[in-house]
Amino acid sequence: MPNDISFSPLCNELADKARAIAQTHVLPNAAKYDRLQEYNWDAARACAAAGLFRTFIQPEYGGLGAGILALARVTEELARADSGFGVAFAVNALGSFPIIVGGTEEQKQRWLPSVARGEKMVAFCLSEKFAGSDAQGLSVRAVEDGDDYVICGEKKWTTNGGVADIYSVFCVTDPNSKSRRISAIVVEKGTPGFSIQKVENKMGIRTVPVVETHFDHVRVPKANLIGGRPGYGFKHAMMTLDLARPGVAAQAVGAAQGALDLANVYANRRQQFGVPISNHQLVAKMLADMAMKTEAARWLVYAAAVAAEKGSADTSKMAAMAKCFATDVAMEVATEAVQVFGGYGFMEDYPVAKCFRDAKILQIYEGTNQIQRIVIARHMVKELGALEHLKQYIPTETQKDYGGAPVAT
Ligand code: CAA
Repeated sequence: MPNDISFSPLCNELADKARAIAQTHVLPNAAKYDRLQEYNWDAARACAAAGLFRTFIQPEYGGLGAGILALARVTEELARADSGFGVAFAVNALGSFPIIVGGTEEQKQRWLPSVARGEKMVAFCLSEKFAGSDAQGLSVRAVEDGDDYVICGEKKWTTNGGVADIYSVFCVTDPNSKSRRISAIVVEKGTPGFSIQKVENKMGIRTVPVVETHFDHVRVPKANLIGGRPGYGFKHAMMTLDLARPGVAAQAVGAAQGALDLANVYANRRQQFGVPISNHQLVAKMLADMAMKTEAARWLVYAAAVAAEKGSADTSKMAAMAKCFATDVAMEVATEAVQVFGGYGFMEDYPVAKCFRDAKILQIYEGTNQIQRIVIARHMVKELGALEHLKQYIPTETQKDYGGAPVAT
């Protein structure tokens, strides 16, 4: 049974602030920054001034402790104006969650307050060239040397790379262990040997940098090992993704709503056969379907956010369902929005082409939608215990007599 979804006054206040910033600082510059592939620092500063980076950080560390539902609503509002800026914001939570779920008190005090103030941006370094979906297969190595770790290797697809000051880096600390192989270590910008080697030239979300991060004998103190104990990195990564996937799902809802808004305005303005095209029933059906699916995704995302916030037993499943469903909806709605715009939709002069380009990555990052379906199906197997009573109503393939129901022979 889903948890109750209710919005606290703080959650509504933060969402309202995000919407205002989206309209004044994000939307007007989205096309320009997309073309230039530049980060919207002006909007980031506005978010910091409005306290939006405090949303996902507990009060003890300078945050508001507003929770995952508030984080989802803020991300949704920002992504509605520009999906790239939505993820640029949300990745700060993704990169902070390893510290929040696994860090020591000292580590939380050391890094989280500056994130809450919006002074320092954060990135999450898990994926590598040869380790994407198979996150346990990563190979960046951290070797103990006295009081330090020395890190060597490369990470791929680091969102916010270059912009961020704090990087949660997942490394192999014990190559011989099966279940305690990986640890998360914080690397700060400017540490010798740490560099950005390649800024990716992307199809979409061009307003946020995605980079390769290189580690050439990067020496960091053992105090940067998240949680202080090696071997818990993979667990922390998975717990992080459970908390962050409702955020990327919220980005998808915002992206879908943004595309739908454009299609709605255009369909009611564009005249063909003497009437707005929204009067043609096939176009009206498209708009109605887009609206229904976006709304359904929105409430699944909110339900997943509440599950994550409450630490419900089905958090992973809900997060995966929300991520998968909402991002599939975003792609579908963006595709239909281009269709509503017709030939104009295919042209970069019109904003809906950007929505289409921005949508695709949603189905890929923070775990492909194929991986989400695996997570969901694995959880469904775990739920079989509660369905034991149904077995009596399902004849086995060899059962001959079953109350008149057709029986396989
Ligand atoms: N919470 C806590 N622990 C968990 C967990 C969870 N949700 N899921 C798994 N674990 C634990 C297991 O209990 C197990 O622990 P033990 O070894 O102690 O028994 C351990 O982790 C291994 O679990 P699995 O055997 O299930 O792991 P797996 O290798 O089969 O992988 C997977 C599972 C779900 C496929 C995982 O690898 C995965 O999520 N892959 C996708 C990676 C991903 O999402 N990458 C995104 C990168 S970030 C990004 O894209 C951000 C961006 O740019 C914006």
